[in-house]
Amino acid sequence: MSRLHLSHVGHAYSENSFALRPTDLTFEHGRTYALLGPSGCGKTTMLNIISGLLQPSQGRVLFDERDMTPVPTAQRNIAQVFQFPVIYQSKTVFENLAFPLQCRNWDRARIGPRVQEIADMLGLTSRLGRPARDLTVDEKQLISLGRGLVRDDVAAILMDEPLTVIDPQMKFELRRRIKQAHTYARMTVIYVTHDQNEAMSFADEILVMKDGLVVQRGTPETLFERPADSYVGTFIGSPGMNFLPVTRDGDRLTLAGQPLGRSSKELPQGEITLGVRPEHVSFSNAMDKDSFPVTIVSIEDHGSVRILDLALGDARARMKLARENVVPSRQTQVAVRFKRFCYYVNGKLIDFAE
Ligand SMILES: Nc1ncnc2c1ncn2[C@@H]1O[C@H](COP(=O)(O)OP(=O)(O)OP(=O)(O)O)[C@@H](O)[C@H]1O
Ligand SMILES: [Mg+2]
Repeated sequence: MSRLHLSHVGHAYSENSFALRPTDLTFEHGRTYALLGPSGCGKTTMLNIISGLLQPSQGRVLFDERDMTPVPTAQRNIAQVFQFPVIYQSKTVFENLAFPLQCRNWDRARIGPRVQEIADMLGLTSRLGRPARDLTVDEKQLISLGRGLVRDDVAAILMDEPLTVIDPQMKFELRRRIKQAHTYARMTVIYVTHDQNEAMSFADEILVMKDGLVVQRGTPETLFERPADSYVGTFIGSPGMNFLPVTRDGDRLTLAGQPLGRSSKELPQGEITLGVRPEHVSFSNAMDKDSFPVTIVSIEDHGSVRILDLALGDARARMKLARENVVPSRQTQVAVRFKRFCYYVNGKLIDFAE
């Protein structure tokens, strides 16, 4: 399969309430995708429709041009990894990895080398003879992944929050192995998470979801630098984007009564919202034409960074500074400038400046 296409797919578990609103989406072969969004936004619903565990109430699931909607899960060449490892506890690791191949009538002589190859890649070789129940939960999750990878007919692997039950210190390592598995097998990976860091560090492309709808898809950089709406701006980033009221009067733009250095043809007259990342706020010289006087309201120490709460007239903005920067004390008046920012009207991105 080179392309997975959800054609006008929507799903309602009960009448008049779409868990996944009718949508058209494509996933290209060999790329990694993250479905990112809060609990209940429809991530698992979308994944289960792709795998065939769930029949959509409307639309078609196409693998290349082939309509797979009526095709059962077992015939879809798709592997799934869930929150909890799905393995045979009493079987050995070898038997667990060999099982999908036995089910497909592989020759015994081929099964051994193939299991060995996958175990080597996942770092499970020394565990092959052990019963799966003796292994740690992260190793068990690797077996679940291995059971999908061992087949040579898998075109896509779907992962539904696979790191949820993994200890925080093991998450990094497991994520590294999952990435390694992707590099090795080059199948499409769709990875569900509500953790933006997990999505950002894993996927080529992220699909941000809200209330059953994909509100923006793009690279981690696009979602960070040009959020399509205020929801994505707030959801991505820590802390999220600042939104500040700007007024356009003729060709003049003002923020908190201060002239703003730049204006643009795209912008309508009247009230506009400026979105700026806390990372793109920096101290400046008060004499610079694009700088603003602000008052430092509070300073939070986050170890490697500091988050400053700034007052610009009645508006508030946060600023994120690396620890080595010298920070004036609270209540001090300073000047700041914005390195990059976006303009929003009715919550939608209409222009950006840098
Ligand atoms: N089997 C079901 N029957 C009825 N409603 C369901 C069913 N499964 C999910 N829902 C509802 O559909 C919506 C989307 O659920 P879904 O499980 O797809 O969300 P999710 O993004 O995976 O959430 P989470 O992060 O909590 O796993 C939610 O409102 C949920 O309550
Ligand atoms: Mg879910």
